[in-house]
Amino acid sequence: MSLLDVENLTTAFMTERGEVNAIEDVSFSLKPGEILGIVGESGSGKSVTALSIMGLLPSPPARIAAGLVRFDGRVLTGLSERQMQPIRGPGIGMIFQEPMTSLNPVFSIGEQIMETIRAHERLAPAALRARAIAMLDKVGIPAAARRLDDYPHQMSGGQRQRVMIAMALACQPRLLIADEPTTALDVTIQAQILDLLMDLRDEFGMGIIIITHNMGVIAETADRVLVMYAGRVIEQAPVARIFDQPLHPYTRGLLECVPSLTEDRPRLVAIPGTLPEPSRRPPGCRFAPRCAMAQPACTEAVPLLESLQAEHSAACFRARELAS
Ligand SMILES: Nc1ncnc2c1ncn2[C@@H]1O[C@H](COP(=O)(O)OP(=O)(O)O)[C@@H](O)[C@H]1O
Ligand code: SF4
Ligand SMILES: [Mg+2]
Repeated sequence: MSLLDVENLTTAFMTERGEVNAIEDVSFSLKPGEILGIVGESGSGKSVTALSIMGLLPSPPARIAAGLVRFDGRVLTGLSERQMQPIRGPGIGMIFQEPMTSLNPVFSIGEQIMETIRAHERLAPAALRARAIAMLDKVGIPAAARRLDDYPHQMSGGQRQRVMIAMALACQPRLLIADEPTTALDVTIQAQILDLLMDLRDEFGMGIIIITHNMGVIAETADRVLVMYAGRVIEQAPVARIFDQPLHPYTRGLLECVPSLTEDRPRLVAIPGTLPEPSRRPPGCRFAPRCAMAQPACTEAVPLLESLQAEHSAACFRARELAS
């Protein structure tokens, strides 16, 4: 039984150039206790996918144009804000991309963690405080009881990210979505945070979606990976398979520029060109202008995700050649 099913999800934004699909026909599922990595360059639609699941995109300009999200057997797409609120927190927790902008500078971190718990559970003040301390302790903040009264600016970037994780975990969600949880952090802290997420999965059996542009993070943490390009899923497979035998030229390019988790060097540019904006996507395969394997037929139709091996699918007209 899956914890989350995303089926043919298409999210559109109204822009000056008309309505454009930020993500298109995105499908995947997640089992309890499983870690799914979503990877792709900046602008590929990872955050829009996460925010569509959470029902957190402003509408307008955003709109779920097709498809659905099912969590724990219940369809979430189409629910009102009031119906979604009790699901966020105890059902689905999210760690956002920007820890500083997501924490309120005028409240202590303790007040913010307790407020999150209070929104979903009735606890006596002492129990509330004890839970907040326990959460900070769990995410590895030393002297948690004393740090509770600190304000966000009194903490380092790594500690703020831990506070964000504590807030997301305070209601013990069954699904945690972590959107680039370590991007702004140095490599040592990055590795610690990823270890923490994996420990929490082992302890609580949470399903976790880790969003990143870093294949190294995927290698370290995920069971399965979804590769996105220009709003579409272009490859999906168990992690070992992706690293052994990627079946999409874009994934191959991504793997050639894997930054190491332990080495802080700038990203190599192995894929020439840039991701097209949603309103300027080429016809046919969206990767064609950058693809060394492109053929004339590639610009005539959009390649659909096709299952090529057990649990391994790719959206490329030439994927079969790469598979053999
Ligand atoms: N509020 C918005 N209005 C219009 N377009 C948006 C908005 N938010 C995101 N997009 C578009 O959706 C696409 C995917 O963005 P996003 O999901 O943030 O990418 P990622 O998280 O993979 O870096 C981008 O091309 C971006 O231009
Ligand atoms: S469909 Fe063609 S252009 Fe697209 S990735 Fe495959 S080979 Fe390259
Ligand atoms: Mg993003």
